[in-house]
This record gives sequence, C-alpha cells and structure tokens, in this order.
Amino acid sequence: MTLLEASGVVAGYGETQILHGVSMAVNQGEVVTIIGPNGCGKSTLLKTIIGLVRVRAGSVAFRGTDISSRPPEQIVRTGLCYVPQTANVFSSLTILENLEMGAFVRNSGQGERIGEMFQLFPDLARRTDQKAGSLSGGQRQMLAIARALMLDPVLLMLDEPSAGLSPAMTGLVLERIKDINETGVAVLLVEQNAREALQMSHRGYILVAGETRLEDTGPQLLNNPEVARLYLGG
Ligand SMILES: Nc1ncnc2c1ncn2[C@@H]1O[C@H](COP(=O)(O)OP(=O)(O)OP(=O)(O)O)[C@@H](O)[C@H]1O
Ligand SMILES: [Mg+2]
Repeated sequence: MTLLEASGVVAGYGETQILHGVSMAVNQGEVVTIIGPNGCGKSTLLKTIIGLVRVRAGSVAFRGTDISSRPPEQIVRTGLCYVPQTANVFSSLTILENLEMGAFVRNSGQGERIGEMFQLFPDLARRTDQKAGSLSGGQRQMLAIARALMLDPVLLMLDEPSAGLSPAMTGLVLERIKDINETGVAVLLVEQNAREALQMSHRGYILVAGETRLEDTGPQLLNNPEVARLYLGG
C-alpha cells in the first residue's frame, strides 16, 4: 500500500524554484532513501512534504488524502513525523522533557511510550535529567528520533540523522533506524552516507538539481556503476 505519494511537486523560496516537479513514493513498511548532491533540494523536499514549504504545483498525498500545504501540526497528527536536519531537539530541556514535548498531541499512553523509547535507546535512559544541549552528537540524534516516535508515526522522515557523526556512531544510528522500521514504521531517509543508507533501504531515489534522476531498489542502486561513480564515492 502506498503511504506517501508526491506527484510533480514544484516548490521553492521566494523567486527561486528549487523542486521542478518531483515525484516519489513510500510504501507501507519500506525504508526509502533519497541521495543527491549538496543543495539539490533534499531538505526542501522533506519540508514541502511536511507543510513547512508551500507546494506550488503538483500534490502530496498521505494515506490517500491530499495534504499539499496543510499546516505541519495537522499533518503530524495523521501519522507523518519529521526530524529536521538541524535544531531538532530543545537544547535547554532535559531528555525527559524533550520526550514529553514530543508527545504534545498525544492523548494517552505517554508514560508507556517513553518507556518504550528508553528500551530502544538505553543510552538515553541512563541520563533522563541531562539537558539535551550537553549530549554528544549521536545521543542528540537518538533523542530527536525518539521525540518524533513519541507520536507513533506511520511514516518517519529523517533528514541526515548521521550528519556530523563518526563512522561508528553513524552505524549505530542507522542500526536503530532499521530496528524502528522492523517494528512496522516506514522511513523516508535523506543521507549523505549513501552506501550505508542504501544497504538498509528497500528503494532509493537520486535527486539532482530538484529533479528525480533515478529510482530503483536499494541493491540495484548500489550495483549501478554510474551511481557508484557519481554518488557513492567510486
Ligand atoms: N530558507 C531558504 N531560503 C532560500 N533558499 C533556500 C532556503 N533553504 C534552502 N535554500 C536553497 O535551496 C537549495 C536547496 O537546499 P536544500 O537545503 O533543500 O538542499 P539539500 O539537498 O538538503 O542540501 P544539503 O545536502 O546541503 O543538506 C539550495 O540552493 C539552498 O541554498
Ligand atoms: Mg539538506
């Protein structure tokens, strides 16, 4: 079943058009990765899907409903959550407070869900009263993901969760994302560590200059010599 479907999405900032008709989809249970050069519009695509950037033409549908340019807080309530590339936790709040904030539109079961998050991320459980601003980069990314998971998303969008992390920590974060997917949450991932990300992806898209250049399964993209040469560092 198709969860998310972007069709011919055009979007940008002011006079500048960044996305020139992007079409892509995420099906139930999938991990889908978007790779592409710096500035090609990956973050803009996620922001447009979640309603932070207006859809100028084309459409975005989630679970069969057109959500084009609905406000983010409305979209989030329908089961589509988003972890931005930067500023994705409240630095001056503790881990526990961040998780409580993450549950702001949740009606019940908050305590139980926090318990589940601490099981998934034991490193966070050991320091619940520590301010998010004093965490390591890896811990902060885990917290940002946990915060988004507080709303029980059907689809989780992550913008470069491994940015600035060591290769070892990148591996750990991607492992957790795989675990999350195995609990039935679909994942739309934007990643610079393209090889590692595609290895755990059902499908992927290559975005170049605001257009989808190529779409294929994770393994096919990894085995494509041109993709390897241009986007996977040879
Ligand atoms: N708020 C903004 N106002 C104006 N232009 C912007 C804004 N945000 C991004 N841009 C421009 O839009 C283009 C696409 O940016 P975007 O952040 O979507 O790229 P990206 O693929 O996520 O890049 P990166 O790999 O560096 O994260 C870039 O040229 C960028 O300078
Ligand atoms: Mg980006």
